[in-house]
Amino acid sequence: MRVLISLYLFQKNMCWIYGYMGDATNTHQILLRWLNRLEYRGYDSAGILVGYGSEQKIVKSVGKVSALTNKVSSLIAESDVYTYGIAHTRWATHGGVTEENTHPHTSTESDIAVVHNGIIENYAKLKKWLIEKWYTFYSETDSEVIAKLLEDNRDGELLSTVEKTLPMLSGAYALLITHKESPRSMVWVRLGSPLLFGRNKDGIYFSSDAQALAWVVDEILHLEDGELAHIHEWNYSIRAQGKNIFRNLEVFDEKDLLVSKWDYDHFMIKEVDEQPAVFKRILKWRVNIEDMTLHADAFHGMQNENYKKIVFVACGTSYYAAFLGSYRIKQIAWIHCDVEIASEMQYLPLDVNDETLYIFVSQSWETADTLEVLKSVRDKWGNTFWIVNVVGSSISRMTDFGLFTRAGAEIGVASTKAFVAQTACIFLLSLFLWSRRNLTKWRHDQLLQWFLEIPDLMEEIFEQKKHIQSIGEELSKYTDIFYLGRWYQVPIAFEWSLKMKEISYIHSEAYPAGELKHGPLALIDENVPIIFLHPKDMVFHHNTSSLQEVKARKWLICEVWGDGEDADWHIPLPDTLDELSPFLTVVVTQLLAYYCAKRLGRDIDKPRNLAKSVTVK
Ligand code: F6R
Repeated sequence: MRVLISLYLFQKNMCWIYGYMGDATNTHQILLRWLNRLEYRGYDSAGILVGYGSEQKIVKSVGKVSALTNKVSSLIAESDVYTYGIAHTRWATHGGVTEENTHPHTSTESDIAVVHNGIIENYAKLKKWLIEKWYTFYSETDSEVIAKLLEDNRDGELLSTVEKTLPMLSGAYALLITHKESPRSMVWVRLGSPLLFGRNKDGIYFSSDAQALAWVVDEILHLEDGELAHIHEWNYSIRAQGKNIFRNLEVFDEKDLLVSKWDYDHFMIKEVDEQPAVFKRILKWRVNIEDMTLHADAFHGMQNENYKKIVFVACGTSYYAAFLGSYRIKQIAWIHCDVEIASEMQYLPLDVNDETLYIFVSQSWETADTLEVLKSVRDKWGNTFWIVNVVGSSISRMTDFGLFTRAGAEIGVASTKAFVAQTACIFLLSLFLWSRRNLTKWRHDQLLQWFLEIPDLMEEIFEQKKHIQSIGEELSKYTDIFYLGRWYQVPIAFEWSLKMKEISYIHSEAYPAGELKHGPLALIDENVPIIFLHPKDMVFHHNTSSLQEVKARKWLICEVWGDGEDADWHIPLPDTLDELSPFLTVVVTQLLAYYCAKRLGRDIDKPRNLAKSVTVK
């Protein structure tokens, strides 16, 4: 069955919207708590509007949430009563990082307020027109244009004011709008930029992030693109093109996405430690342990025996998960498989036919580059499948079939457990495709049997944490690091190198070990440690030769696995099958990067210039 999708424009910035309305009297604290929890996503200014009846207060600040929190506590007493509010975190696009450019934006009298995600493409023309009328603008943003337009179209009713305004806007947006004179109402609009609404016994919550709602609500409502909703007290009405639409709230069962650092210094290390549990959760959902079969319904949409080619599309760490997946699809399922970087794929011709399946991999849910390719494949009626971590995400709502990796909320910007979950799911997928093709059962069972052992083997690696930490700390003394691997370890070398760059800010390069002599050797000397992934697999001896090439030049070697004979540092690992070795080496690489970055005192969970969801193209 093919799911019809509505017009989908992409969110062009990395801003977040929150809102609350209900029985609680401390809306300012509710919103600040939310902003704090979501701070890891990265932004450069934040603002809130809170109200009680027609009494309203707006507070804005540039910088981290702590700056806004300090400002709020100097302006609002803890005991002050506010029963509704909207909040916004901004990643500057139109105009610099200033309080004036921070949301909410308001009408001239500040009675209408709006928070906006996305982009208004015709804002310059509208702004000129409004200025010519008499309006004064205080910011450089496209969003303020919306507030002034609402003012210009005001007719006493918030809903009809919004309905009159929307046709004048072109672009992609999610809006949450309040009006002083209707303090028990809000209007919420969605066109190409996500925004959800959830409800619990205390009130109504809005968020552009499904995960944020997971902490608080029992029921959730999605708007489709082009729809708006008028919320009044506990009721809501949905409208599109002037007509009412009826839709019920859905039960929201993502309560397990709780976000707490517990006793850990960083989310990243907590998430690395969670990997055995994530693995077990995936096993529970996908594998029938009693008879060693895969749950066919967990791979719904994969039964098509005619797929002759699979094309993975992804970015960053998800790309490396797909890269590793492509090795497994080729070697285990024997299907031709390509893997493409989404931002590049947009410029390449699409090979869309019945025998090709496009698989989109994303740990978050809103990566603009990946979504752009998905849209192009869908426009050509290609077969699509997603591998995503978050239930209710944009990608998962736009494709035919897919599977949730169920890694749980990942807070550290550097992806760890989401990567492991993606690679585990793709491994099972390759096994499923293989088993569908009736190839030998003993090999299938052997792979699955060893796969079940991985959580315990990961725990064994954790027992070496102190040793790995000491090597990670040594690495912090260098300015360049090389990562080498062969066969299944090549994607891990790339992923490791990315992780190192991200969180330690140390320059690193990854190469297939066989490529060393084709150029990179010229760069290496005794100041560049080589991290060598050297599992005892089919290519062990080829790797040993490469290792000796390095050793002959007396360069520093950290050997992961192998026998350690030629190494300056050695990290032994337990045995497993060749196909499964990346599940072990990746844990070592994550730990090395973590301890190295920690020694350097880096902001590990929120590395500079990076954000968790990359919704910009
Ligand atoms: C790196 C990292 C990023 C993401 C990339 C794609 O640790 O997390 O490289 O993998 O931005 O994001 P998703 O997977 O959300 O599509």
